[in-house]
Amino acid sequence: MKYLVTGAAGYIGSHTARELLMRGAERVVAVDSLERGHRAAIGVLERLAPGRVRFVEADIRDRRTLRETLLAERPDVVLHFASFALVGESMGHPAMYWSCSAGGTASLLEAIQAAGTRRLVFSSTCATYGVPDRMPIVETMPQRPCNPYGSAKLACETMIREQVEGARRTGGDFGAVLLRYFNVAGCSADGLLGEDHDPETHLVPSALQAALGTRPALEIFGTDYPTPDGTCIRDYVHVEDLAAAHVDAVAGLRPAECRSFNVGIGRGFSVREVLAECERVVGRPIPAKIAPRREGDPPELRSDPSLVMRELGWKPRHVTLAPMVESAWRWMQANPAGYPR
Ligand SMILES: NC(=O)c1ccc[n+]([C@@H]2O[C@H](COP(=O)([O-])OP(=O)(O)OC[C@H]3O[C@@H](n4cnc5c(N)ncnc54)[C@H](O)[C@@H]3O)[C@@H](O)[C@H]2O)c1
Repeated sequence: MKYLVTGAAGYIGSHTARELLMRGAERVVAVDSLERGHRAAIGVLERLAPGRVRFVEADIRDRRTLRETLLAERPDVVLHFASFALVGESMGHPAMYWSCSAGGTASLLEAIQAAGTRRLVFSSTCATYGVPDRMPIVETMPQRPCNPYGSAKLACETMIREQVEGARRTGGDFGAVLLRYFNVAGCSADGLLGEDHDPETHLVPSALQAALGTRPALEIFGTDYPTPDGTCIRDYVHVEDLAAAHVDAVAGLRPAECRSFNVGIGRGFSVREVLAECERVVGRPIPAKIAPRREGDPPELRSDPSLVMRELGWKPRHVTLAPMVESAWRWMQANPAGYPR
């Protein structure tokens, strides 16, 4: 099959493109502006599958390039990762988030329609749920995002759902799967792809940077939450399991349907528990300091992944933090300054 992957130079997009290539994808067209991604990650994919990867450096809001690319390539499936993805940044720059997420998704959907592409998998987020009333989170719970990042992602979900309905009305069979990821961690087992955000705000790489000395200390944002140890609880999924969930989503795409799934392991780990696991893996204490709560951080976010398991047959191979932290630490030790710039 032929795939077009937006955001393929980023963390999750590159891991998923790798998974598709390893499972025999005929062609992967990688579209990325490189604004937040790495040309070197695309290089890894090109070396892994010579002749099967085409890189298009473009912003997905560039409607003309996107349309031309889709018309020329006619992919069977589009996987759409491209987005800005920092909750904190979105609080101060809402329009930038709406433009990239909603504007970019509208441009992509237009190109998809023009090219007659029939299938789409979209990267959504648990941030669309906001601060839920109950745990764990099931897909039918209300989506009430509490930051512009989550609001813009929810708008993309609505747009995609309406595009599916629109296609159905006009006799088309465009179908989509929306995957709402929880927290993602870890790196590819071969050590070739990693997580390299600037700034890095994710907990595991931030703690490991503090261990390596490339950041002074890990900041623990709030120790007075109503959780057993006072720190926030999140559900972590290994990036390779998440990549596999995309393969399952592609198989589970149904004509003229829009399906939504949570992707997490259904277990919660507190910030202090993650820090303790990082310290165990690196074999020494990690400098940490307590900081005030961050605006818009819910105390706990934990998925109920039974729907994705039942309906798509997804089964995470990793249900503990150890393989996530160990693979992230291996990559960081080998690449202390991240990908070559
Ligand atoms: N990392 C997580 O824990 C997490 C959790 C939930 C959802 N998500 C979602 O998963 C997706 C991937 O996240 P990630 O952590 O890999 O982020 P990332 O920043 O590593 O990758 C995003 C990629 O998209 C590219 N991009 C951004 N805007 C673009 C545009 N307008 N046109 C073309 N390319 C553009 C960037 O250059 C980057 O390579 C995002 O949509 C994000 O919202 C991530």
